[in-house]
Amino acid sequence: MAKTLSFTCSACGASHTRWSGRCDGCGEWNTIIQEAPLSAGPAKKSLGGKRGQSITLSDLSTEETPPPRTLCGVEELDRVLGGGLVPASALLVGGDPGIGKSTLLLQAAARFARNGIKTIYVSGEEASAQVRMRARRLGLEESPVQLAAETNLRDILTTLEAEKPGLAIIDSIQTMWADNVDSAPGSVSQVRAAAHELTTFAKRHGVSIIMVGHVTKEGQIAGPRVVEHMVDTVLYFEGERGHQFRILRAVKNRFGRADEIGVFEMTGKGLAQVTNPSALFLSERGTPSPGSAVFAGIEGTRPVLVELQALVAPSPHSQPRRTVVGWDSGRLAMILAVLEARCGIPFAGLDVYLNVAGGLKVSEPAADLAVAAALLSAREDTALPADTVVFGEISLSGALRPAPQTENRLKEAQKLGFTAAIAPAGGKTGTVAGLTLTRPSDLVGFVGETFGAG
Ligand code: TYD
Ligand code: MG
Repeated sequence: MAKTLSFTCSACGASHTRWSGRCDGCGEWNTIIQEAPLSAGPAKKSLGGKRGQSITLSDLSTEETPPPRTLCGVEELDRVLGGGLVPASALLVGGDPGIGKSTLLLQAAARFARNGIKTIYVSGEEASAQVRMRARRLGLEESPVQLAAETNLRDILTTLEAEKPGLAIIDSIQTMWADNVDSAPGSVSQVRAAAHELTTFAKRHGVSIIMVGHVTKEGQIAGPRVVEHMVDTVLYFEGERGHQFRILRAVKNRFGRADEIGVFEMTGKGLAQVTNPSALFLSERGTPSPGSAVFAGIEGTRPVLVELQALVAPSPHSQPRRTVVGWDSGRLAMILAVLEARCGIPFAGLDVYLNVAGGLKVSEPAADLAVAAALLSAREDTALPADTVVFGEISLSGALRPAPQTENRLKEAQKLGFTAAIAPAGGKTGTVAGLTLTRPSDLVGFVGETFGAG
């Protein structure tokens, strides 16, 4: 007999037979908690005997009109949604506590309500008065948004059924309580059950439901990853506390591109969209200094220029530090290894710090060459020319691979006043006037051309 699984990871939802300090599923520490076992269904027997109804099947060529979409008018949000809100869809907006999810959604609610969609905002975290106060601060107190402070899911669903809104916002899924599940609000089973109920409700009643999910670092509260698979669209709201920039990133979207980003700025009067993020990310750049390289990246459908900053210093430790903010640390280790093995440039005994300015998280392999440029510039204490952008993927052999959408990257660089670009040979460049292209075919060639010696 298989034992009942009763330990669950609150970060990723993986089930375990016993407790351990680290989840094998997602690698997080201290996230495994004991839970009431999930119901094994009505009966363990096979469905057998009693027959069901037969289902009508259709073929793939059946014409389907694309879903009507509603735009909220905030371009950065509409684009991340894949071109507007789709009716009868379930969305999850995840993010760290305090990053601005409630602010974003209240502003979106007001926009959608003004565009004629009946909108209900249910807060399980704040009292109505608090939400109203925020609305006043945002200048939205006249918006036709209906408000409720409630956590009882049964009551919420009954209300939604009677009110028939076009959009309902649930802030947050971790505060919802389904009375048919015997565990505390915020536990994996509660969060799962609530998300499941809300998602089914959305499909059945044609309501768009947006759920807020707090990213939790550890412990008793289930994170948004537990419900990612149930919903149609998963958006994460990222950014660093010290920065005003906030990035809304689509990580899953059944109705649009999954890597699209929207950029916002947190102001005293709520979130303002940033329609030219490159200019914003580069605005803090000072005079050219060693360790800085401008990467011409692509986020979703849009080119975005960001500054990569590296610092390389002799290490007092036997194990030199490798610290990365905004990029993958495994990828950094790889670039350091390739630089050492293929170009003979060692980083042993040196601490290496890498930072993506502005709080953006870069995941494109095309950033490899810009990272290498920043690292070498820091190591050699030589500033790269200020008007140059760099991009391209580095392979383990030290060869360079062209990045997708080379032409768009170059156009964006030119638009922002850059006059030179370093990009691998190959790839369609089109005609971008006024930009001097350097096209190394491998890393050794790049090092030679950019930093003189090999
Ligand atoms: P909030 O939307 O409550 O975050 P979340 O729902 O993700 O927990 O936003 C919290 C932060 O945003 C808070 O620290 C104050 C700041 N903020 C502003 O800077 N300007 C504003 O207009 C508002 C409403 C909030
Ligand atoms: Mg909130």
